[in-house]
Amino acid sequence: MNAVVSLARPEIVTLKAYAHAAWLPSLTRLHANEVPWRPAGDTTTAGLNRYPEPQPEALIERLAALYGVPTSSVLATRGGDEAIDVLSRIYLRAGTDAILQCTPTFGMYQVAARIQGAGVVEIPLDHAQGWALDPERLLAAWQPNIKLVYLCSPNNPTANLLDVTAIEEICKTLDGKAIVVIDEAYIEWSRSSSLTRWLNRFSTLAILRTLSKAHALAGARIGALLAAPGLIELAKRVVPPYSLAQPAVEAALRALSPDELALGLARLEGLLAEREYLARGLAASPLVDRVWPSDANFLLIDCRDADHFMRNSMAGGLIVRDLRAHPSLPRSLRVSVGTRAQNDALLHCVGLT
Ligand SMILES: Cc1ncc(COP(=O)(O)O)c(C=O)c1O
Repeated sequence: MNAVVSLARPEIVTLKAYAHAAWLPSLTRLHANEVPWRPAGDTTTAGLNRYPEPQPEALIERLAALYGVPTSSVLATRGGDEAIDVLSRIYLRAGTDAILQCTPTFGMYQVAARIQGAGVVEIPLDHAQGWALDPERLLAAWQPNIKLVYLCSPNNPTANLLDVTAIEEICKTLDGKAIVVIDEAYIEWSRSSSLTRWLNRFSTLAILRTLSKAHALAGARIGALLAAPGLIELAKRVVPPYSLAQPAVEAALRALSPDELALGLARLEGLLAEREYLARGLAASPLVDRVWPSDANFLLIDCRDADHFMRNSMAGGLIVRDLRAHPSLPRSLRVSVGTRAQNDALLHCVGLT
């Protein structure tokens, strides 16, 4: 049994997937208890009266081409969030297993683990070293019941890419012992290449990607879990058969057409220029103490007076994310990069222009 299977919960290894209605589009569908008319306002190609294709072939092919992996290594999910949920349900036994995460980081890893009844082990990123990952410390904390090790790169909310050599050391040491999950939700903004090429090197590596950020489709809820085919097979048993709504699938296919991808690249460059503009502007604000370097589409800032910053932004009709509940971020806010007009409006609210 390969490690992606032997690490999984025994109930999932022996689970028989739900037998959904056969997907045979050339035949008239009288096998899925659907109705034969379309609802008002239905603009989808396939028809909202029909259940959508489970793991749609065309979408899987486009995602595989986009991320440079075989189709057998792709599970299309309702955003990265569902990929995290599916991994938790496959690998975490309540009261026994745990995840390891490097804090501060994206909140859903621990929420999904706790819903599953699993533990959460935290290793702090090194604040003094620009929120760097410490592989020795992480590996020293690892134990066999830690089934999922999350590395978010670029990390939310600290905005930095994690060091590739550090990630590699962790992947090498834990290969076959834990699922190392590299969350690359923001990788497109970093100008660094994705680590999907390592799926051939490490048998228990999983990579999360999403169309929510660089492809501007947060509302469609489409993401991807990329991993060894054995892991994807388990995930297909766990994910609900009709989880991807037809309008979302059609929106994703449009976004992944060659024309839209080319347009997206130009927009990405524009946003990176705006990121520099906003970072310079915020660094000059009397309310801001520090703007952290960013490899993502947002900025982490430490404030001299975060209440004042929040109040002024709200008064100008703008909302930023308050991170101060996190013990290592007592003065921090997170700001998404907007349009030039939105960025100027924020800079105006916090004491400039
Ligand atoms: C690091 C990270 N991973 C995953 C997600 C989930 O994104 P989605 O479910 O929209 O793909 C987010 C959302 O903000 C995120 O910040």
